[in-house]
Amino acid sequence: MNRILTALQPSGILHIGNLFGAIEPMVGLQSDENENLLFAVDYHAITVPQKPAELRRNILFATATYLAVGIDPTKTILFQQSRVSEHTELAWILNCIAHMGELERMTQFKDKSQGNDLSVSVGLFDYPVLMASDILLYDTNVVPVGADQKQHVELARDLAERFNNRFGETFVVPTPQIRKEGARIMGLDDPEKKMSKSATSEKNYISIMDDEATVLKKIKSAVTDSQSTIMYDEKRKGLANLLTIYSLVTNTHVNQIASEYEGKGYGDFKVGLAEAISDYLTPLQEKIKGYLANEDELINILDQGAQRAKAIASKKMEVVRQKIGVQL
Ligand code: TYM
Repeated sequence: MNRILTALQPSGILHIGNLFGAIEPMVGLQSDENENLLFAVDYHAITVPQKPAELRRNILFATATYLAVGIDPTKTILFQQSRVSEHTELAWILNCIAHMGELERMTQFKDKSQGNDLSVSVGLFDYPVLMASDILLYDTNVVPVGADQKQHVELARDLAERFNNRFGETFVVPTPQIRKEGARIMGLDDPEKKMSKSATSEKNYISIMDDEATVLKKIKSAVTDSQSTIMYDEKRKGLANLLTIYSLVTNTHVNQIASEYEGKGYGDFKVGLAEAISDYLTPLQEKIKGYLANEDELINILDQGAQRAKAIASKKMEVVRQKIGVQL
């Protein structure tokens, strides 16, 4: 049996990068041979200021989205990170074997702190250790993530190996799983940088909840180039990104899409792409709204998930406490 685990921050919007990089791969990996865990990392979200009422809403929204995309709570343990206190407990222990230097090298911290190291929270700096704890607590074999999280999963591997060397075999060393297409959806307004929910402009991303008019407006303003042919060429980064999105929402190869636009220009292509995205998102949005209308049911699913996760996590923590010598 393979244990497969991933998590997303319930902060603000979820965009199509999150969907293609992590949620969809997780749905594809649900099977009787795997044991899957998916959770909303609310304690990661508070590494930057959050309004309590919004955070609560975002946790429910994230849960509704996972279910709408196809997560089946009978096959995947679906829960909220803060409900399983072993995550933060193990994070403390891992903090004591992690090195300042390796955390300082994390590119996401460098990007997010942008040199303001003195005013960012300690939590933001320590965030990858909590993520390592999320993964190692469950003896996870495979972690499906977008390309931006690879470095964090590698830190989890390093910490697992360091702990095992120091205290004897305890943790499974996890492997990141990064899909070929869709693991790095780029910003619409800047195809050099990844699509990001913390982007300053809304034109950077397509939110899962964007309506048809918004999608069309954003796609029309997406940065491309001055060439006139529609063809897949990695060097034409804006177009390559749009073709990748087109391919993901229609499940069609990029070259086939490009051939459908032979002799046509960006105008037709962008209208076609916006339509394809909305055709993909509209039914999903209906499902999300349906799940959100029944909050008690969502809370019930999360409660049950937390109980199942806790049963695994508490057993693991007993072993960890024993290994480090605090269990009398
Ligand atoms: P987060 O919430 O920033 O992103 C959630 C997932 O979406 C992927 N992703 C993308 N994929 C493709 N293109 C993009 N532009 C794009 N932007 C984001 C991310 O790679 C991620 O897979 N630290 C993590 C959450 C986390 C976690 C974990 C993940 C906490 N504990 C344990 C796996 C295992 C984060 O902030 O992801």
